[in-house]
Amino acid sequence: MRSESDILIEISTSGTSQVHYSSEASSSQSLPELEKSILLQPIPTQPDSKAPRHDASLSKLLLRRLQQAHTTAPHNERSITQMADTKIFDLYHWDHVIQESGDGGKVVVCRSKSAAEGERKEFVMKMRAKQEAKSSGYEEHFRKSLQKMLNLPSHPGVMALHEVLEDSKYYYTVMEKADGGPLFQSLLTEYSDGVIPATVIKRLIRQILEGLGHLHRHGMLHRDIKPDNIVVHKGVAMLIDFDHVDADWDPAKPKHQDFFVGTVRFSAPEAFNGYFSQQSDLYSVGVLLYLLMSGTTPRDDSVLFCETKVGTDRWGDTVYKNLKQAPGVDWQCDPWPTSPACADLCRRLLRFYPDARPESVEDALAHWWLTDETAA
Ligand SMILES: Nc1ncnc2c1ncn2[C@@H]1O[C@H](COP(=O)(O)OP(=O)(O)O)[C@@H](O)[C@H]1O
Ligand SMILES: [Mg+2]
Repeated sequence: MRSESDILIEISTSGTSQVHYSSEASSSQSLPELEKSILLQPIPTQPDSKAPRHDASLSKLLLRRLQQAHTTAPHNERSITQMADTKIFDLYHWDHVIQESGDGGKVVVCRSKSAAEGERKEFVMKMRAKQEAKSSGYEEHFRKSLQKMLNLPSHPGVMALHEVLEDSKYYYTVMEKADGGPLFQSLLTEYSDGVIPATVIKRLIRQILEGLGHLHRHGMLHRDIKPDNIVVHKGVAMLIDFDHVDADWDPAKPKHQDFFVGTVRFSAPEAFNGYFSQQSDLYSVGVLLYLLMSGTTPRDDSVLFCETKVGTDRWGDTVYKNLKQAPGVDWQCDPWPTSPACADLCRRLLRFYPDARPESVEDALAHWWLTDETAA
């Protein structure tokens, strides 16, 4: 089952935050329900500028074959591996299950069986039931995201996929295991009293923004930025969980979709009405920043969780309106009055209207709290 870190409140002193959290859900609504995925219409592939141009010396047939080869399997393109008769347990061994869902989907820590004994490094493998993707109508979208993630140039802020396999029932996404574990676990290991220096939060936010910028520059939105979807590896925060990625995002062609995807407490107001953009990802970074600094999320649960049935248009609209009418975010609580630079960035990220937020990740990274090491 998916989990959403539930935050129980904070104690903060100037420049530091104390975060206490539990994994108990405080809402009666189940997370999978709140995180419905959708089928996005595939955008036609743009003509590739590197595709062979017409050459009179090539027969039309040869030319067509070359063009086909270029568009269907560009040089070195990595693809999802079909397992045919091989079973996943012939390839990987695991005995630690991180998380399990009712349909047989799992996230496990595993080791490759082909590596020599002693050199079997740990991976994390995510098994997703195809039936689930099919029944919610987003299998094509899901495959496209996996394919794009497989071919994404590496970046320290984004967990690279080692390989993706499939059989008739599951997709298996294999990636390196982050040595520090999930963000909060890593922070609590290092700061067992829950007091996190603001400079550490600054560094983390910078890393998260840089990872997010990498996705945006490659035409993707993450759409589910939250603590559970950030791990720490070799001291660097990395984005994981690309299940809700929009792999076909083009800022010049904003799309609207009929469903909400993401996590309620971390989502931008417009996401509840099906509008996603780099600014909606940035809003989620704002929620994360607010949480890391103050130990609580910026919006009260009573604003976000309402009686209306989750996933319906009316639900999205109700949450949107609730957010619009809700009293402003509390900027008087600790440590905001003594952290004006950080508060300024956080306010900008959390603005209600997407156009009022930083225009891009680069814009957010240029904020004085992030560029000036001494700014509080
Ligand atoms: N590469 C990884 N290294 C370490 N832990 C991971 C990794 N990938 C996932 N996890 C852990 O597994 C959890 C579930 O993985 P995630 O991809 O977020 O699945 P879900 O789609 O079910 O939320 C994460 O919250 C994190 O704790
Ligand atoms: Mg997740």
